[in-house]
Amino acid sequence: MSNTLILSIETSCDETAIAILRSSKNGLEILTNQVSSQVKLHAKWGGVVPNLAAREHLKNFPKLLKMALEEAQITPSQLDSISVTSGPGLIPALLVGVNYAKTLSYLWEKPLIGIHHIEGHIYANFIETQELGVRNEDLANKKQKPNSYNLIPTTYIEFPILALVVSGGHTQLVLMKDHLQYEIIGQTVDDAVGEAFDKVARILNIGYPGGPAVARCAQNFQFPISNFQTNPNDEISKQNSIANNTEAKKLMPNKLIFPRPMLHKKNFNFSFSGLKTAVLYETKKHPELLKDKNYISEICYEFQQACIDVLVAKTIKAAEQYNPKTILLAGGVSANTELREQLGKAISESLPTTTYHLPPINLTGDNAAMIAAAAAFRWEKMSDSQKKKALDGWKTIQPDANLKMK
Ligand code: KG4
Ligand code: ZN
Repeated sequence: MSNTLILSIETSCDETAIAILRSSKNGLEILTNQVSSQVKLHAKWGGVVPNLAAREHLKNFPKLLKMALEEAQITPSQLDSISVTSGPGLIPALLVGVNYAKTLSYLWEKPLIGIHHIEGHIYANFIETQELGVRNEDLANKKQKPNSYNLIPTTYIEFPILALVVSGGHTQLVLMKDHLQYEIIGQTVDDAVGEAFDKVARILNIGYPGGPAVARCAQNFQFPISNFQTNPNDEISKQNSIANNTEAKKLMPNKLIFPRPMLHKKNFNFSFSGLKTAVLYETKKHPELLKDKNYISEICYEFQQACIDVLVAKTIKAAEQYNPKTILLAGGVSANTELREQLGKAISESLPTTTYHLPPINLTGDNAAMIAAAAAFRWEKMSDSQKKKALDGWKTIQPDANLKMK
């Protein structure tokens, strides 16, 4: 990897993000990673309002850019290129980032590279930081500033890679035989898994954003079988223990079991819409129980486990067919601790020679560092004439809400 300095911009949804990344043979180094989250603004609507998101991006951008350049101690002339998420995403939101990127590219006379949002999520895996557990908002607010990053050589992750992409808009199994080569071998036929988490949180009225709320609630679930030797991650042992214990039955009158959609289908596709509907029907059957915190936690626990069971089983099955050297997780839902752990456990049991890689927790949600990481690999592969052509990127790059990864 040659020495390059990339400024990147991400505004596809409700985070305004700017990062500056240095790539070198030692790895990818984040010089600054500014993320301004709009969670509070959209919370009262229960979801992202595209035009409000765009207005916030417009307002936040100049401030974030100033902060980014100051923190990285970089002047624009030092940059090699600018990269921006050009899709997929909400078109009003994308338009703001893309137009800011085009303006900077024109003003500073820098090549402009358009990046696919999911490609960015996958490439977050190539950035290693020590700041596990630091929240993006805290980083943006400078409450907690990372002072050291652990670089990993960019050759550290071996191909072929099988990426399980789990976000608010996507659920895909992506096979990569080499850098920037994507073959989608399976995907959701309806809702994305993150979207299902968000909808379940809304049905249960447990907070926004939904994914972390459901995960927290599931974690609080008090298993009524404390005197049993069970592995709460093992569905069969859980159901057997509950079924065999009268005391547990009393405590857990609903013995919730949600479907594992498409688990036994031969393909690698997913479906999460029916699972969300199963949660809705359950709550309609027992409206009187909705005040019972442990009942809500039980729903969250069983819903989350149903999602994880399908995601893990399909990933293992796909890996058995395609024999990747590495399996990695990508996207906002990869912040889910249970998913991270259970997928890791399944890989070490079923595929002991396959390496498992996770994105740093503070880069699982939307950020611009991941966009710069993908751009670093694109830049590396570009010929001199392609780099020269990218100087005209400000004339040609357009946002595309349905951009395909290629
Ligand atoms: O990648 P991302 O930040 O935005 C998109 O590209 O969509 O993903 C956001 C999704 C949301 O649906 C959010 O609820 C979900 O990721 N999410 C989680 C967790 N943290 C975020 N889902 C489950 N467990 C979590 N801990
Ligand atoms: Zn995302």
